[in-house]
Amino acid sequence: MNSSMDTQMLVDEAIQELEANVDDIAIIACSGGIDSTVSAVLAHRAVGSLLHCVYVDTGFMRKGETEEVREMFKEMDINLEVVDASERFFEKLQGVTDPEEKRMVIGEQFIRVFEEEQIKCGAKYLVQGTIAPDWIESGGGERDVIKSHHNVGGLPEDVDLIIVEPLREFYKDEVRQIARVLGIKSSERQPFPGPGLAVRVLGELSRTRVEACREACHIVETRLIEAAAEGKCDLPWQYFAALLPVRSVGVHGDTRVHGETIVVRAVASLDGMSARFSEIPHDVLASISTEITNSLKGQVNRVVYDITHKPPGTIEWE
Ligand code: XMP
Repeated sequence: MNSSMDTQMLVDEAIQELEANVDDIAIIACSGGIDSTVSAVLAHRAVGSLLHCVYVDTGFMRKGETEEVREMFKEMDINLEVVDASERFFEKLQGVTDPEEKRMVIGEQFIRVFEEEQIKCGAKYLVQGTIAPDWIESGGGERDVIKSHHNVGGLPEDVDLIIVEPLREFYKDEVRQIARVLGIKSSERQPFPGPGLAVRVLGELSRTRVEACREACHIVETRLIEAAAEGKCDLPWQYFAALLPVRSVGVHGDTRVHGETIVVRAVASLDGMSARFSEIPHDVLASISTEITNSLKGQVNRVVYDITHKPPGTIEWE
């Protein structure tokens, strides 16, 4: 896809297809991320008020994210129902440490929240923001499962909704172009996984550990956006922190601390299928490290930088 005219054609086609396939109440999970927002705007243009947009606060969102998403939808004049479901997500994930199991639990809870919303609004269709890498990497083709991306792998078999996926054939850069044509505010936002911070907190998902990861992600995002604006480096394609359940000995003043580890991840990529770790200037990394250990005193005493390309690593740590 190269010109905005080509993109406009794809937008028109997608809307026409949705108009032809969705003839009743539809529901969509809007995370505020580009994929679900583009899908919601396309579906809203196709079926208007038949579409019910639901934002589920899982407890794994970024700092300030819920308010930002609420605001974005308000500006686009699309109704958004915000459901705080964090309690049940934390409860069901107690003791779960396996990455695939986490995704399955999250996917399952998600769909349960949706069933409740579906009953409330009587939806027959479920619009999803699945894009090509989601199902390819989840084993949709001939390939092995790398990860079950939750909008694919977590769906239970007994789901009673007709699934509609307007972005199924597109890659991230194409979805971004569509978002620009649609005038969506989050078109330049970095991707954020459906299960959110849950795949960035390795080991048990306690509220305290998720909060630490949220704070560290916020610091990484803020410092890298600032560094890019100052021309110190390119803004990476994706940049965040993950919390590792690896304890090491550190020292704070005169006190010995046995804290956990934050890994900073920043990559350059086009579509998320492959990636190279970003070369971030050392002074920027140093300020990120200092700010994280100061903010998370006693909890995190070591910050490392991930220098793994994809492949062999994936972008997220889980
Ligand atoms: P990985 O970590 O597999 O990620 O190299 C490639 C891109 O996909 C995002 N990602 C996910 N997105 N549900 C999603 O919707 C998921 O479970 C998931 N896991 C990874 C990741 O952030 C990156 O942009």
